[in-house]
Amino acid sequence: MKTLTITKPDDLHLHVRNGAILKTVMPHTARQFARAIIMPNLKPPVTTVAQALAYREEILQAVPAELDFTPLMTLYLTGSTSVDEIKKAAASEYIHAFKLYPAGATTNSDSGVADIKAIFPLLATLEKYDLPLLIHGEVTDDACDIFDRERVFIDTSLADIADNFPGLRIVVEHLTTTEAVQFVQAAGANIAATITPQHLLFNRNAILAGGIRPHHYCLPIIKRESHRLTLVEAATSGNPKFFLGTDSAPHLTSLKETACGCAGCYSAHAALELYAEAFEQADALDKLEGFASFYGADFYRLPRNTGTVTLEKTAWTVPPEYGENGSTITPLKANEELRWKLND
Ligand code: NCD
Ligand code: ZN
Repeated sequence: MKTLTITKPDDLHLHVRNGAILKTVMPHTARQFARAIIMPNLKPPVTTVAQALAYREEILQAVPAELDFTPLMTLYLTGSTSVDEIKKAAASEYIHAFKLYPAGATTNSDSGVADIKAIFPLLATLEKYDLPLLIHGEVTDDACDIFDRERVFIDTSLADIADNFPGLRIVVEHLTTTEAVQFVQAAGANIAATITPQHLLFNRNAILAGGIRPHHYCLPIIKRESHRLTLVEAATSGNPKFFLGTDSAPHLTSLKETACGCAGCYSAHAALELYAEAFEQADALDKLEGFASFYGADFYRLPRNTGTVTLEKTAWTVPPEYGENGSTITPLKANEELRWKLND
């Protein structure tokens, strides 16, 4: 049987929520990854070190006892984040970054930043204390076509941030366009990016052709095929600027399958299997380990993991849902067959 063994990977962009959903999803991620960068867009958002430490405890409670998993906490940057809080975060061994959401760009981003220029003093503080800035790179202008929002953000805001803070480490999260890939490739070593499994596997037909598929709806929205091909090329290139971040974003099935469904794809149940499919299709399985296990850790200046995980070339069918009756989550590729399977 064909197998693939790689160093234990990290997920550098993950939503685990809290309460009942956290209990459902945490075992999935802890089985696949040694560590994950935890997104702070709870309701209310995680804006202080004290909140992040309490959230970290809640996450650890949800990790099955037999698994070893380390949550890497982040804080939600707002217009009222204080310089003092940034200093506290820099001094904490548990806080690894700040997340910038343009106000209204995505799920739970109401507390995000409306005027990016106005927070430049905070970005200067992040640069000074060497804390990475994680960016949801989309404009929120209603007049801007949803398929153009990432490209326009690069031109109007990201280039400006990068120029003004040449020492700031930036992760452009969940890339979806050729323009974003080119921006990151051309930037200095301080600028890197995450790529999700859904943006490597699907183009926008997966959302809209032959019927609306709400479980393929996430933000930034999946783009046309030419963009997918550029993303696959970047992820499988061996360029350390591109690394794994699933953006697994669980929502209750009832909140996805409705007249105005939430944005977010749930992929934690089969993250490595999904990436393996994408890398195999590109004939680049040998590039998976760098992308999944080395480049993200290096960028965040964390030691590389020491254990390994093994994937087997064994077909299995993804269940229709996870969770308890009435509060279930529909996973990516529900009821479909996957070619790779992670060994326990
Ligand atoms: C994420 C969520 O649900 O929290 N949704 C998504 O579509 N990706 C937020 C985000 O990362 O944009
Ligand atoms: Zn996200």
